[in-house]
Amino acid sequence: MSGKTFYIETFGCQMNVHDSEKVIGTLMAHGYSQVEAPEAAGLVLYNTCSIRDKAEQKVFNRLQNFKRQAGNGKIFGVLGCVAQQEGEKIFDRAPHVSLVAGSASYTRLGEMLVELEAGNRRVTGLSLDTDQTFETPLTRRDNPHRAYITIIEGCDKSCAYCVVPFTRGPERSRASESVMAEARGLAESGYTEIQLLGQNVNSYRDPSPAGQDFAALLARVAEVPGIRRVRYTTSHPRDYGKNIVDAMDANPVLCDHVHLPVQSGSTRMLAAMDRLYTRDDYMRRIEWLKTARRAYSITTDIIVGFPGETEADFQKTLDLLDEVEYASLFSFKYSPRPNTAALHLPDPVPEEEKQRRLVIVQERQRAIQIRRNAELIGAIREVLVEGRHEALGQWIGRTSDNRTLNFTHSAGDGHALAGRYLPVRVTRSGPNSLVGESVTVV
Ligand code: 5AD
Ligand code: SF4
Repeated sequence: MSGKTFYIETFGCQMNVHDSEKVIGTLMAHGYSQVEAPEAAGLVLYNTCSIRDKAEQKVFNRLQNFKRQAGNGKIFGVLGCVAQQEGEKIFDRAPHVSLVAGSASYTRLGEMLVELEAGNRRVTGLSLDTDQTFETPLTRRDNPHRAYITIIEGCDKSCAYCVVPFTRGPERSRASESVMAEARGLAESGYTEIQLLGQNVNSYRDPSPAGQDFAALLARVAEVPGIRRVRYTTSHPRDYGKNIVDAMDANPVLCDHVHLPVQSGSTRMLAAMDRLYTRDDYMRRIEWLKTARRAYSITTDIIVGFPGETEADFQKTLDLLDEVEYASLFSFKYSPRPNTAALHLPDPVPEEEKQRRLVIVQERQRAIQIRRNAELIGAIREVLVEGRHEALGQWIGRTSDNRTLNFTHSAGDGHALAGRYLPVRVTRSGPNSLVGESVTVV
């Protein structure tokens, strides 16, 4: 390899995006520089997702495309959830791959790089029995204003459809002082928004003697001087306590948004999915949020076509959408995954029926969003300016409740506004975003 270069492509959730930031930081500390195209790189890495079959197939398509390039010394590595799930089978399926490592092994990434550099073409990091979290001072963050902080890794739940406990291993919470030190450091280097990450942040439990729970950690992070917004994702309804809502109510730095994946509106389906809550339990949490001191926007994830889901179950999901009126949602067709409890369940829902239900969910939700977003016309919201959309002549803004609010601004040009917080009046609305104009002259 001449001058150590790498290319990395990331699939999947924010945890993966943040893992890639840490991987990039580690590689740079080992003398590698990042390039923007796989063709130009000595080391090509894919940080993969296996949540649904489609996500998993993407990496194999990529590897197939580059198969011929392996001859000229290019090294390929598969990281993340597909790596953990498929393990050494990846070497059989794609023999030009030299590195296969899951996220629980990234603490050993430096050693793995040394092995690769020494010419080893079968380097693996697949152990899940780590009690460490992947901490690196070398994180290379992409966004100059918003930073991710991992507070908990892995997942101890066993939702019947989900690969995550198998790909990310058991839960490990990070010591609160380590989280706080990272938050303070980020504030000092100019970040104003922090997003706390974990597969299930609500089950955070400080391993140090302080023993803080998630609500307590949230409250502390929100008090870091210089931090203006704190978000968190993702939540499991079962562990979502009232004290979290109370913590948010007490400090507006904690953003007006909660992502609370419900998956189904049918208690029968929730039991089949092993979600550990009923529809009523879930609705109680929605009630806390709706009767809270501030208005919170609520978003969710929905799975349609889980084995055994009847038309009546499906109707209960639609009915839940009407009842909650989510600000937005992600909806998916159930995809059978390796190792999971649901893999061999009887009564699969045919593909066409899953597709039909998915479209109905999306249409129903779209109507809700059109209506709810239109109600915001005339309102003034503070946005964090994320950048500029030149083609539209608009600035890109994000509200505390996690809506995109693009806006025009009479004064100021170039990129001078990025990173600022400005009040914007909503003038138009669509199903997925809002448009407005800034109400101050800067
Ligand atoms: N099939 C379809 N959707 C899934 N999700 C997780 N596992 C599966 C699966 N096997 C969805 C859930 C979860 C989101 C991240 O992905 O809705 O909340
Ligand atoms: Fe995909 Fe889940 Fe892994 Fe995130 S944790 S990358 S969503 S499989």
